[in-house]
Amino acid sequence: SELHSFLKKLPKCEHHIHLEGALAPSLLFQLASRNEIILPPDDDAFKSRDALLARYKRFLSLDDFLHYYYIGMSVLIHEDDFEALAWDYFRHASSDGVHHAEVFFDPQAHISRGISYSTILNGFNAARSRAQCELGITTELICCFLRHLPASKCLAVFEQDDIQASFANGAIKGIGLDSSELGFPPHLFKDMYEKAAKQGLRRTAHAGEEGPADFITNALEALGVERIDHGIRLADDDELMGRVAANGTMLTVCPLSNVVLKCVGSLEELPIRMFLDAGIKFSINSDDPAYFGGYVLDNYCAVHEAFDLDIGDWERICRSSIKGSWCNTKRKAEMI
Ligand code: HPA
Ligand code: ZN
Repeated sequence: SELHSFLKKLPKCEHHIHLEGALAPSLLFQLASRNEIILPPDDDAFKSRDALLARYKRFLSLDDFLHYYYIGMSVLIHEDDFEALAWDYFRHASSDGVHHAEVFFDPQAHISRGISYSTILNGFNAARSRAQCELGITTELICCFLRHLPASKCLAVFEQDDIQASFANGAIKGIGLDSSELGFPPHLFKDMYEKAAKQGLRRTAHAGEEGPADFITNALEALGVERIDHGIRLADDDELMGRVAANGTMLTVCPLSNVVLKCVGSLEELPIRMFLDAGIKFSINSDDPAYFGGYVLDNYCAVHEAFDLDIGDWERICRSSIKGSWCNTKRKAEMI
């Protein structure tokens, strides 16, 4: 339709996509076979691509999804695997009209399996160069830490020589915090975020996805984050909503993810209209596109249908997401 083509053409920036969450079942099975990885034999979901996709439609919660997410990424072994994964995402993103993508990855989930950090980074960087040359899209990497693991373990990984080198040479733009939210409040990671700030890294954290609005306050105050990933529970706290609007902090909202993981009962329950009315900046993102049934354009279309936005609303959303990006001002000017 005319609207679909309007939404497709909008100059999009994506800020909330976990590269490991772009692992489509077809690539998952292909790499499992090539790398001789045994998928759980006692779980019928791994019997076929269709069985796995059917299981993805029945996620009960963030933790239920994360169980499959961590098993899925166990097929990633070689530099080429990480390159293929990232390239697959960049191709999809470009065809959806993404001009600039800031992508998350979870080094701890690979290092713990004996994969070296350079294998991950070299693979992703090869795909990033190709994306820049062949697709004309700019990209940044955001190194995420797993909050269900002890903060001391996260800090030790943060301080690893090879990871520090990737911060110092600009390969990594910033840090994030992901994985299970309930039971793992942001302030546990205060030391790591203080060090990151001193090193000139940009800082974001998942907060207010399954966890309460208090976790958003906590991430802003204890971690000094510049963005909030998800942040939908902000709708429960009027006072905080005023502060977030006044400070211009951007939320990276992931509509289809929130429905699939049952953070909301339906898209219509998302506070999209409320955020627009309150002057909250937000971008619209896919989170884990291979698991949640859609890339970024599917999320734009779903929001459009649920909230009947007009052209002015879309222009505001796109302008906020360009402004809230961590690229330089020249690149921002090219996109506006
Ligand atoms: N939330 C927390 N951790 C994650 C997510 C998410 O949406 N996706 C991948 N890891
Ligand atoms: Zn996420």
